[in-house]
Amino acid sequence: MNHPKLVVGNWKMNPATVAEAKKIASRIKIATAKLEHTDVVICPPLAFIAPCSGRGKHHKMLMGAQTVSPETESGPHTGEVSVMMLRDLGVEYVIVGHSEQRKRGDTDEMVSRRLKAVLESGLTPILCIGETVRDDSGAYLGSLKNQIKASCADISYKDAKKIIIAYEPIWAIGATEAMKPEDIYETSLFVKKVFSDLFGAETSSKIKVLYGGSVTFRNAHDIMVIGKVDGLLVGRESVNAPGFIELIKVVDGIK
Ligand code: 13P
Repeated sequence: MNHPKLVVGNWKMNPATVAEAKKIASRIKIATAKLEHTDVVICPPLAFIAPCSGRGKHHKMLMGAQTVSPETESGPHTGEVSVMMLRDLGVEYVIVGHSEQRKRGDTDEMVSRRLKAVLESGLTPILCIGETVRDDSGAYLGSLKNQIKASCADISYKDAKKIIIAYEPIWAIGATEAMKPEDIYETSLFVKKVFSDLFGAETSSKIKVLYGGSVTFRNAHDIMVIGKVDGLLVGRESVNAPGFIELIKVVDGIK
C-alpha cells in the first residue's frame, strides 16, 4: 500500500442545491481533522467547487474536479473550464476518463489530451479505466491494457509518476455490489504490471491504484486490505455524509 491512503468522493451531478453541497462538505471537513494516514478529496460538480472549497487550518479535506477542458489557453471555448481556472479555485486533483464521460463521447485521444493538460498544470490526475464486462477468456485485461496505453501516450516517465489510476469496472458502478476484493487485487496487480512495462518498475511501484464501483463504509475495509489498493474512488456513498465519514474512518484505521 502506498501511503498516505487516498479516498476520493466523486459527487457526480449531486446534490441539487448549493446549500446541501455546503452542508455535506462542512461535515466532511470536520471529520478529516482527525485523520492521520488518509488524504480525502471531494469532487463536487463545477458549480459547487468554490462554495465547498477552502483549505483550512482545522481540516484536511482537499478539492478535486470531475473533468477539465483539454484546452489550456483562455479563448473561444464555450462551456469549457481550464486547469488554470480549477487551480485558482484551490483544486488539486482532477478526474479524467471517467466511464460516464467516455460514454458521452470521450475517446482515448480526448482522455489523453485532458490528462496532459492536468499534468502540465501541476495538478494531480486521477485516470479512470475499467472494462464493460468481465469475460472468462480474460479479454477484458487486453482492453484495460489498451486503455492505459492510449490514455498515457506521449507521457514522460517523470509525469507518469504523478498519475493516480482509478480502476472502476463499469459493471460495478452504480450496482448493488462491488467487485470481489480478491479480483480487485488481481486486477490492480495487472494494472501495475502494464504501468511497469510502459514506464519501468520504479514508477509503477510509486503510482497509486484506487478502486471504484459500489464502495460503501461496509465493504471499504476488505477492498483496501484484501484488494490491496492504495485508496478508493467513491460515488453514491460520497454524498451520503454519515456513510462517507464512517468510510474514511474505516480506511484511516487500517494499518
Ligand atoms: P458508485 O460508488 O455510485 O458505484 O460510483 C462509482 C463511481 O463511478 C465513482 O467514480
